[in-house]
Parts: sequence; structure tokens; C-alpha cells
Amino acid sequence: MIIIVDFGSQTTHLIARRLKEIGVQTLIINPDSALEEIKKGKPQGIILSGGPASVYEKGAPTIDKDIFNLGIPILGICYGLQLTAHLLGGKVIAGKKEYGPATLKIKDERLKMKNKLPQQFTVWMSHGDEVIKLPKGFKTIGSSDGVPFAFVENKDKKIYGLQFHPEVEHTEFGSQILRNFVDICDLKSGLTVEDKFKIQNLKFKIREVVGEKNYVIGAVSGGVDSTVAATLTAKAIGKRFIPVFVDNGLMRKGTEDHVMKIFKKIGIKPVVVSVVGETLARLKKITDSEKKRKIIGNFYIEIFEKEMKKLRAQKLPVKFLLQGTIYSDVIESQGTQHSAKIKSHHNVGGLPKKMKLKLLEPMRDFYKDEVREIGRKLGLPEEFVNKQPFPGPGYAVRIRGEVTRQRLEMEKKADEIVLSELDKAGILDQVFLSFPVMTNAYSTAVKGDGRHFGEVVALRIVESKDIMTSTWAKIPYEILQKISSRIVNEVSGVSRVVYDITTKPPATMEWE
Ligand code: XMP
Repeated sequence: MIIIVDFGSQTTHLIARRLKEIGVQTLIINPDSALEEIKKGKPQGIILSGGPASVYEKGAPTIDKDIFNLGIPILGICYGLQLTAHLLGGKVIAGKKEYGPATLKIKDERLKMKNKLPQQFTVWMSHGDEVIKLPKGFKTIGSSDGVPFAFVENKDKKIYGLQFHPEVEHTEFGSQILRNFVDICDLKSGLTVEDKFKIQNLKFKIREVVGEKNYVIGAVSGGVDSTVAATLTAKAIGKRFIPVFVDNGLMRKGTEDHVMKIFKKIGIKPVVVSVVGETLARLKKITDSEKKRKIIGNFYIEIFEKEMKKLRAQKLPVKFLLQGTIYSDVIESQGTQHSAKIKSHHNVGGLPKKMKLKLLEPMRDFYKDEVREIGRKLGLPEEFVNKQPFPGPGYAVRIRGEVTRQRLEMEKKADEIVLSELDKAGILDQVFLSFPVMTNAYSTAVKGDGRHFGEVVALRIVESKDIMTSTWAKIPYEILQKISSRIVNEVSGVSRVVYDITTKPPATMEWE
């Protein structure tokens, strides 16, 4: 087993996932009690995760230095490397910030670990601090242009450090590096992850949590996560699951039909609540993205409270609220002790407190691609399983500034154009997310010889598997041209279209 000490990285859970894929069992622990837990757990290896803090700051999370003297191989990743350097006599400073892809060049052939790594490959960085002096006994295995100590080792003590993230999808040979570490730990892989994905086990777990008589109410937004969670729950407890679809006007066209179709197949009729006008009224003059999220989230609570009252009046013991929370929501909404809050994705935390309902989150431990895999196993159609994720607050977070009826219509129209052109070109299912953003920036255009001052639309089209990292999609120019021409010609009020070429990190996928 390998113990992962979590310093709050967005990707700590990904480290565990990659190791599980290799067949190694892991345990994620907090730094405060790390030494005792390591002594108790007797792991064959230790990984120190990344994290948002700076090692030289007061109150930054740390570990007992004795951990380095236990004779157990250690791999420090990002903050983990910086902490290793800091505790063992090296030096860390606020260095050149680096987010996204970098080229790692292997420096010293002799130091290369067992499984072959190429001479150079792409790795993903996400750091503001930098090790500028290595502790005694350490040597450099690889460097990038910006980071001399990107891959280091103390061979005698079996302590390794990486400034980049081997666990993220976009780091090439990341699993190879972790496999090398597993070899160094003298661990034999063998466990499989299959059990975790067995539908039978997932249904059993739901029945175990909910009990024999209780009812579950749940929002179904038509998104992959909530539908997979809902389908699983419906299959586990049948009509004791009551799906509710809230039509707030902020969802993609056809969402309601989609939801109805899926549940017709399962034999359950969702409750549909229509609140389009009221939603826009509540969003009036609101420009802050977090406020928008809160308003939409709170409105959901109100709607659910009303529906709950109706059900309880029928004497139904509704005790649980089903949510399609997945692991990236948990991480990005600050779900672990030292992680930073990125966005308050409204389907995590908070919601049920007022409602006196317990949460049922059967997808909480899974990444997007895993949820899709479960959806396939449940027999959901491929076109549905591959559907793009859509944020809970819908178009509200794709319209910078105030969500007016007019701008919502512009966004919807532009969105349909983007989707239909990608579909026509046969590349819709190859991208993870595609959408226009009403940027709230304005620019001049000449339309029919007249001056026109209209809104700038940004196109965001990204490729990703598990949401934690993404690259912008290299869409052929002709398709971008077609999309751009159609948007400026067909969506009144738009003056210009620009393409967003920023990776995540640093940019999140959504603009708000
Ligand atoms: P970001 O923008 O955080 O997006 O890189 C990652 C994934 O999360 C979705 N997203 C949300 N989902 N409520 C949600 O349910 C939200 O407030 C929210 N904000 C972003 C986003 O569409 C992407 O799939």
C-alpha cells in the first residue's frame, strides 16, 4: 500500500486513481497526523501531494521530518517536492509562475529510473513557487526551460521529487513515472478496480444507505452525472425515487425532452416545475458569478422545499436528496482539508442543510470518464453517455455580467450554431465541451456599411477526459470560420467572435 499525504492539491485523488489503475492500493491521509498514521499503516511507499500553500509561509501544512528517516521510499509532487526540499535543507522561493504544458528534458541517462522514459516529453506544471537549491544528497534527473529541478532524486534514501504533475491526463508518461516509483517501493501490482464499477455493488450500496422504506427525491438536469446517478438509484429502489426536473430557462434546448425520454424507459415520470420568468427576475442586475450561482442554488432549495411539502402531505417518508456530485465537483468546491476553493459548484455542500434531508451521492468518488463508463454499463445510449457536461447554473455562467432575456437568447442561438457546426463536421463527439461565452466586452463592426457596436463572443472548445485538466481543441480553421460567420450574421447584437486558446490550468473551462 502507498500512503498519500494530502496537502490540498486539486489532483490528490487522481494520484490515488492512477495508482489504482496500476493495481496499487492507497490511503489518503492529512499531514497533521501523518507520522503516526504512516507508522501504523506501514506503507511500502509515501507520496506527498501538491497543494495551494507556500512552504515558507506561516501556517503552511507540513509533516514531521522524521518521515524522511523511516527508510520508506518517498515521492514529493509539486508542493510535496518543495516541502521535501524545505525540510531537508534546500531552498524554496516564490519563483516564476508556470501553469500548463512544459517540456521536460531528461538530463542524466544514468539516473533514469527503471522503465524507460524518452529523452524529452510534455509535462503539466501548476506552481508559483520553485526549489532553487536542492538539499544535500539530491541530484537532478530532469529539467524544463523554466524549472531546473523539475525531476530530482536522492538515490540512497529513495526520495524523489517532481515539480510537475504525473497524475494528470495531459502529462505524457505520467503513469510510467508512477509505475517506476511503485517498482522502487518493491510493490507488486495485482488489485483491480473492477469491483468499484460493478453495477450490482453500486445498487447494493444505495439500498444500504437508503434503507427499505425511505424515499429519495432528486433533481435531474439532463446532464450525464445526474442522469447516471438517477438511473442507478431508480434501478436500486424503483418508485421510491422521485425525480424532479426544474425548467429555469437556463438549460440547453431539448433538455426536458431528453430527461422525459430517459425516465420513460425506466418507467418513472419526473415531476416538472417551470420557473423561467421567476429565475430571470431573480437574476436581474446580478453580475457577480458566485452570486448568480448562489441565487440559482437557493431557488432550487425553495422549489425542492415546496415539492417536499407536497410529498410529505401524502405521508411519504422522503429522507434523502439525490445529487449527481462527481469527484471533480468535490475537489473544485474545496472538499478536502487543505485544498483551495475554486468555485462553489452549487451541487456540492450547503443545499440540504435547510431541507433536513440527507445526501445521497452515488457518483461522488468517480471522475467524469468513470461516470460515463457506469452509464454505458447501465445501458444508457452512447449519444447520451457522451453528451457534453453542462454546468448546474446553466447559461448563467456563460453570460458574463447580467443575464437578461435578450443576452440569454443570444447565447442560446450562438450555442446552437456551435453545436450544429461541430456536429456537421463530425467532430462534436471528439470534444469535451464546446460553447460560446457572451463576454460583456463590446467592439466595433461594419455591417451593411454602417457602424455597429456589438458584443464579443468567445468560443471555448476544450478536450479533456476527467475535467481536472484540459487543452483547447485544435479545430480546423474552416470550421471556426463557419461558426464565426454564422454567429456574427445570425445572432443579432454580436460584433465579433474570438477563440479561447487557454489550457486548464490555469484557466477553468467555464469563464465564470
Ligand atoms: P471549470 O470551469 O470549473 O469546469 O473548469 C469544470 C466542469 O464543471 C462544470 N461547472 C459546473 N457544474 N455547477 C455545476 O454543476 C457549477 O457551478 C459549475 N461550474 C462549472 C463545467 O461545465 C465543467 O464541466
